[in-house]
Amino acid sequence: MDTLTVQEPWWKTSTVYQIYPRSFQDSNGDGVGDLPGITRRVPYLAALGVDVLWLSPVYQSPMKDNGYDIANYDAIDPLFGTRDDFAELVSSLHSHGIRLVMDLVVNHTSDQHPWFQESRNPDSPRHDWYIWRDPRRGAAVDTYAQAGQWRGDEPNRWVSAFSGPIWTWDDIAQQYYLHFFTPEQPDLNWENTDLRAEIYAMMRRWLDQGVDGFRMDVISLISKPTDLYDDGDGSLDSAIFGPRFHEYLQEMHREVFDAYPDRIFFTVGETPGATPEQAVMMTDPSRRELDMVFQFEHMVLDSIDGDKFHVQKLFLPDMKSNLARWTTSVGNRGWNSLYLSNHDQPRPVSRYGDDVNYRYESATAWGAMLHAHQGTPFVYQGEELGMGNYPWTDICEFDDVETRNYWRDRVELGGEDPARVWPGVAMMSRDNARTPMQWDNSSNAGFSRGVPWLPVHPNYRTLNAQSQVGVEGSIFEFYRKMIALRKRHPVLVHGDFTLHEGEQPTLWWIERKLGDTTLHALANMSADPVTVAIPNGQIILRNIPSSPRDNAENEYLAPWEVRWILTTPITAGE
Ligand code: GLC
Repeated sequence: MDTLTVQEPWWKTSTVYQIYPRSFQDSNGDGVGDLPGITRRVPYLAALGVDVLWLSPVYQSPMKDNGYDIANYDAIDPLFGTRDDFAELVSSLHSHGIRLVMDLVVNHTSDQHPWFQESRNPDSPRHDWYIWRDPRRGAAVDTYAQAGQWRGDEPNRWVSAFSGPIWTWDDIAQQYYLHFFTPEQPDLNWENTDLRAEIYAMMRRWLDQGVDGFRMDVISLISKPTDLYDDGDGSLDSAIFGPRFHEYLQEMHREVFDAYPDRIFFTVGETPGATPEQAVMMTDPSRRELDMVFQFEHMVLDSIDGDKFHVQKLFLPDMKSNLARWTTSVGNRGWNSLYLSNHDQPRPVSRYGDDVNYRYESATAWGAMLHAHQGTPFVYQGEELGMGNYPWTDICEFDDVETRNYWRDRVELGGEDPARVWPGVAMMSRDNARTPMQWDNSSNAGFSRGVPWLPVHPNYRTLNAQSQVGVEGSIFEFYRKMIALRKRHPVLVHGDFTLHEGEQPTLWWIERKLGDTTLHALANMSADPVTVAIPNGQIILRNIPSSPRDNAENEYLAPWEVRWILTTPITAGE
């Protein structure tokens, strides 16, 4: 058996499961998921075998961005439950051996946060907790107006992540404030020492309640670049990793995590724009910043001209080489996360797989190839069932602010042809990930007895957890087995990585090696059979049953077939 020689923190051998609380399980019939609903489903998470739960925000919020706009960091939003409900969830998770990671949204707050309300008063000591600027002198108001979105004398012409200017005029302050996302999400001014101290204290209060770590929302944006305030156009891409970024992370580590010498926490930074070199800087343990990062390079390989909603079919070799480059350059020097889906991305089985003819095979092939890389795997709710994109028919069906704003800018204001814009919007909208979890074939898929806030996918009668848990040959059981294998085979966690280059484009073959153990993960990522000399060894994971055609000579992979093969002699205990 491959042996684990290095003592590593628990999160390296873990698999994380992400819950988007609005869409997971409603318990009170209001059509929105909640904390008691999640607690009810903890045994489901335990059955899947995940080690950590990342909970998207449940704090008090006006929900302009579904909780990523926080009005009170210490309160649970009544929509999701109470402090007691939260304590019950923590204790239920811990009693099942599952840790809890909270979403930390500290690049910005809600405009309803009392800090922002105070900040609007220029004489308040908290004025400086947000980023305020005077109008550009001499600029004629309304010259650059785009149907009311721009006044014309904004400090500059930078465009926000969710369309429109990054500046909004405030009548009380008589100044503009900065927001990289919606106007209801003003950016905090991390230059202010008192503000940072307040954030660290808030983090410690959550850790005191048993929370095991944080997923840090758009953390790479907290230190603003100096040219952000210059007159001119600019892109958020250049706003990442500002001059004091690493200093802030190190300070946070000292002020928050070092206060608990007996506990090992888990931190993952959402770091749009990160390169492997930057990822190593953030996650090299000796630098004491973060444990791992979410990077985005592999998430934009199918987009055209950097436009998220303008996509083409993924060219698989791009994905293979991108993940290989990240794995070899970050490796054990830092640590990476492995994901294909989350609450901001469409469903991978629809985006990269085949949700019409090969849902089971393509969902499992993608899962197994991703999990064979080096890093901590993240599974997003419903991925373990092969849930796919929703069949949207009209823009009115969307709830998501990013999707609606994009449509407004392109079609309603920009006059683009809706027929051209629609396919990308339907494929890429974040709402694809947010339709309710499909539990069973009862009404609303067992998600809610009320009216769900987003429609349930019509395929729920056949695609649901009840029809998969404990059922051999289901996507759930495949994921359960795959997650368990990670615990038994340290080669998956620590093994050196090699991508077999120059193979047929639809063949994906990687090799991990630890001591005398080699793990081959190989898959046919297409509907056409692939001929390949498959190595001999013990097949520890495979998504299709053996068949007569089954490789007496080991030279054929069926459509979307994946195998994990160990090529070491098997010893006792295997
Ligand atoms: C992150 C979140 C996303 C949110 C944005 C602003 O990217 O994942 O859901 O809209 O930050 O907080």
